[in-house]
Amino acid sequence: MSVHRVPLTARRNGPLSGAVRVPGDKSISIRALLLGALAVGATRVDGLLEGEDVLNTAKALQALGAGVQRTGDRQWLINGVGVGGFAEPANVLDFGNSGTGCRLTLGAVAGCPITATFDGDGSLRSRPMQRVLDPLQRIGARTLACENGRLPLTLAGARDPIPIVFEPPVPSAQLKSATLLAGLSAPGETVVIEAEATRDHTEKMLTHFGAQVRVEAVGGGRRITLTGQPELVPRPVTVPADPSSAAFPLVAAVLVPGSEVILRGVMMNPLRAGLITTLAEMGAAIERLDERNDGGEDVADLRIRAGGLRGVEVPAARAPSMIDEYPILAVAAAFAEGVTVMRGLKELRVKESDRLAATAALLRANGVAADIDGDDLIVRGQTRPSGGGLVTTHMDHRIAMAAVVLGLASERPVQIDDGTFIATSFPGFVELMRSLGAELA
Ligand code: S3P
Repeated sequence: MSVHRVPLTARRNGPLSGAVRVPGDKSISIRALLLGALAVGATRVDGLLEGEDVLNTAKALQALGAGVQRTGDRQWLINGVGVGGFAEPANVLDFGNSGTGCRLTLGAVAGCPITATFDGDGSLRSRPMQRVLDPLQRIGARTLACENGRLPLTLAGARDPIPIVFEPPVPSAQLKSATLLAGLSAPGETVVIEAEATRDHTEKMLTHFGAQVRVEAVGGGRRITLTGQPELVPRPVTVPADPSSAAFPLVAAVLVPGSEVILRGVMMNPLRAGLITTLAEMGAAIERLDERNDGGEDVADLRIRAGGLRGVEVPAARAPSMIDEYPILAVAAAFAEGVTVMRGLKELRVKESDRLAATAALLRANGVAADIDGDDLIVRGQTRPSGGGLVTTHMDHRIAMAAVVLGLASERPVQIDDGTFIATSFPGFVELMRSLGAELA
């Protein structure tokens, strides 16, 4: 990532209008690369997100012996080495800002008889890794070097991986996925029992590549059983538009008076759709057009018209289905009539930044009352927040983009200290927003 900061200023302009497609889903892009690398033969991926997080994961997989090649615009070809077939990398694997790339690759490496060192940028170095190392150690991997459960760390994969039954202590698709990817190398059944259902892209894509995965509902959660040592068969993957990226132009269209925007091909997986549910409860006018299935995921074009919002209470149980959307929901709440209470946001403290603190700070810097009460965020809405503040992004792409959207609708411009991290998940964000009529300097 560039060492040069790119400050941004977002200000009010006329209504937003137009039809656009946001880049491919980050979670699915990273999984497509990983499963392609673990399959035997060539996997074609169409619509891959060409953001820094995905590109860093691609480089790491190349260093582990997989062939990863760009064949066209968002088209990639992966030559896999088979389950357990990674080669020992010559150098440190640097995942930059990508928690998903790092944690899922840790899982895949844990099932191979190799040693690899994992590292990342300042943000990733501050994030907890022990939660992933715990199940991987039970499977038979050993941590050779690691301070305080943080990067950099060196992992020796298991020579004889053991299938385990694992109950993640926190709702986390990364933890679930890392365990399943390690379990691919183990004989017998690896079981993950999650108390709350989290995004299911790994389970779906494993099935797509020919693995045997059984998913049973248990209470509000799921029991996932993977049969180990499959031969993964290459299958083409089409990546739908990322709902977590769509969230930013979507909320901007709701907030900027007179706007009407169409977002094409947005993934509607119910385990990712919590923001749309919440905005609908708040009174947003979001229509689903042309609902269809594309590459195994439900997608739709979304038509969004600007309109007033009212404050709501967002239950903790909804958090896994919108975990990355709280900063932008908080911005929407700042413009709503009344108070919005978002419950159960503990996991936001360990994202690319302490996102709970960063979200409250972004609102307060712009004249909006925001309080943190335990793990809850409480936002007092107003017709038009003053704006005029300077937002510190803390190397967090979603804080930067949420601040931009606030600036597009607030009274005075909002300044963002550094927009470079937006490229981790949403390359072309500034250009896409400008094409809709946003004023961004
Ligand atoms: C992701 C899972 C979530 C999410 C992240 C992507 C994934 O993290 O915040 O952006 O692709 O599995 P956790 O699993 O830590 O909740």
